[in-house]
Amino acid sequence: MTARVLDGAAVAATIRQRVAGEVRELADQGVVPRLEVILVGGDPASRVYVGSKGRACREAGIRSDTHVLAADIGAGELRTVIEGLNADADVDGILLQLPLPKPLDGRAFLDLIDPGKDIDGFHPTNVGLLHQGRPSFAPCTPAGIMELLDAGGVPLEGARAVVLGRSEIVGKPMAALLLARHATVTTCHSRTRDLAAVCREADVLVAAIGRPAMVTHEFVKPGAVVIDVGINRVDDAALVARLYPGDAARAEQVAKKGYTLVGDVDFVAVGAVAGAITPVPGGVGPLTIAGLLANTVLAAKRRRGIE
Ligand code: GUN
Repeated sequence: MTARVLDGAAVAATIRQRVAGEVRELADQGVVPRLEVILVGGDPASRVYVGSKGRACREAGIRSDTHVLAADIGAGELRTVIEGLNADADVDGILLQLPLPKPLDGRAFLDLIDPGKDIDGFHPTNVGLLHQGRPSFAPCTPAGIMELLDAGGVPLEGARAVVLGRSEIVGKPMAALLLARHATVTTCHSRTRDLAAVCREADVLVAAIGRPAMVTHEFVKPGAVVIDVGINRVDDAALVARLYPGDAARAEQVAKKGYTLVGDVDFVAVGAVAGAITPVPGGVGPLTIAGLLANTVLAAKRRRGIE
């Protein structure tokens, strides 16, 4: 391993401390920021994420309630929940956990959220502002990655950045944020021709494609900064042994829990080529939650004209 490991957990802790300080200042003015989370159905990963988000809010002094709704809820009923939260003057932020169970269309419901309470930054108004280079609420994961790059002293101006993945949650907003910082940005995806060669041009490579260990050393220019957004559950003990040779803790996780979390990057192989890399877990994941807290406090301030 030659790459420097970028410590997302440490940067996230710094952001959370900053946010907790802002929450204390708001408390002096009688304001308690409030985030409402909507979870539809029982997707196990979503339940874990939502639980972590709620805990982090409470630790930071943010009030947070979760609305757990049945997977077969009607579109009209879900719309009523969102409209009720939009109308509730005490609510600062609304988070609709994605993905929604079929046949509900996530995008249609994100469109209903009041843009001033859209702390995920997924409403078309906020997406438009982001792409104009004047972000209102920048989506939490890419915003956290920008903080990590800055904390790591990674130069962005004029750098070649490649974003692997074009999701609304990570890939597209990530590209917009990097472009706003004057990187030369390429977004690629599963249909990109000669994917490895395109990625190999990157000074900064962000992998957000949702396929375990897909990014091998062939995708990475020596010395590049590699950010791994993937969180994939891998239950194949042989694959885990191949990806993490001699890693007894990983093997034990698979044996005990039935899986281990693997990023989109082959961490060991790429770590031997890259200049810097984020681990999974402990890299990007904690930054997403920190970004969520920061956006909730921002919403609480903006709604009261405090900036
Ligand atoms: N599902 C996975 N990531 C996210 C996120 O950042 N926000 C929401 N609302 N749902 C998600």
